[in-house]
Amino acid sequence: MNFEIALYPGDGIGPDVLEQAVRVMHRIGERHSLTFQTKRLDWGYEYWKQHGTVVPDGFLDEIRDVDSILLGAVGWPDAIPDHVTLSPLVQIRQAFDQFACVRPANLFPGLTSVLSGRTAEDIDFVVIRENSEGEYIDNGGRFKQGTPDEVAVQTAVHTRKGVERILRFAFETARKRRNKLTMATKSNAQKYSYVMWDDILDELKSEYPEVEAERMHCDAAVMNLVRWPDRFDVIVASNLFGDLLTDLGGILGGGLGLAPSSNENPTKEFPSMFEPVHGSAPDIAGQGIANPVAAILSLAMMFEHLDCPKAAEDVRQAVAAALAAGAKTPDLGGKLTTAEMGDAVLAHL
Ligand code: NAD
Ligand code: IPM
Ligand code: MN
Repeated sequence: MNFEIALYPGDGIGPDVLEQAVRVMHRIGERHSLTFQTKRLDWGYEYWKQHGTVVPDGFLDEIRDVDSILLGAVGWPDAIPDHVTLSPLVQIRQAFDQFACVRPANLFPGLTSVLSGRTAEDIDFVVIRENSEGEYIDNGGRFKQGTPDEVAVQTAVHTRKGVERILRFAFETARKRRNKLTMATKSNAQKYSYVMWDDILDELKSEYPEVEAERMHCDAAVMNLVRWPDRFDVIVASNLFGDLLTDLGGILGGGLGLAPSSNENPTKEFPSMFEPVHGSAPDIAGQGIANPVAAILSLAMMFEHLDCPKAAEDVRQAVAAALAAGAKTPDLGGKLTTAEMGDAVLAHL
């Protein structure tokens, strides 16, 4: 089988971690008779220095027909405001209807969590983040900017279609796992949008009788994830809450350097995108020490989506074996460089 994969390395540590994921991709290809045509998109800060924009006009058309997009990370806040550099990322998610953002958080055996005493058995949950609407809709404005009378309006949009489809996706994910679903909202404070989420959850429950579905306010969910991570299986949340919960998930699962993510268009009408949860990490960029595991595990999620589950499993097992053998970059307390960590994973393939 042949796939066309768009590579969007981005900024900071993005190109470094993506390079290791691409090495793993080609090795997996040899093992599973898969071939990959890659299309490299040198967009971001470097592109902006030459052209004054971070992506070309019509950039979506350049990736509309690929099978998948692999992204490193974007953002170079010292030079360009984040909402400019990051806008293409959010546009890709929305234009290609990548409505399901799946972010597993699990602690690999042999690693230590920031939560003392917690092991791999305690930390194994997945956040399903609504990825196409909610608080990330580009809708609002600033008025009388810079004056004492300034007003900023930014509206969130929650549609019945959008909420229902992400809740169904979450119920179905729970069915494949431990049949437990927690919906994190703030329906005690936001009485229109999140009360609609509550209503739709209640309507769907009878279709998934085997799933124990509970509501939790997002503030309480944050606290409970710290004190009782073992009680969570699948968490579903809006776009913004899902974003916040998954940085927490990343650190509980051993660190952001390990946390993968998908942006899935489940109907496969458009390409899906796979990327680490983490950003461009300017604090360690250029040092060659970023952990590439989050990017490599995002590649595993891509294989899953492309219906190559054995390839996905091989990648996950190679990562688990490398970590169990003690391979660690500095974020995990080790000394390996990004490329050496890539070597350690490849050694198990
Ligand atoms: P960040 O995720 O880049 O970094 C947070 C912390 O985690 C830093 O201390 C960093 O060194 C560490 N870290 C992250 N990834 C790591 C890795 N692979 N290995 C080792 N350590 C790692 O978040 P930030 O500092 O808030 O944001 C930096 C930039 O990235 C900003 O421009 C932000 O807007 C952007 N951002 C982009 C994405 C994305 O591309 N999907 C996601 C989040 C943030
Ligand atoms: C993420 C990031 C993005 C988000 C930013 C870069 C727009 O934080 O993927 O988690 O908020 O979705
Ligand atoms: Mn985030």
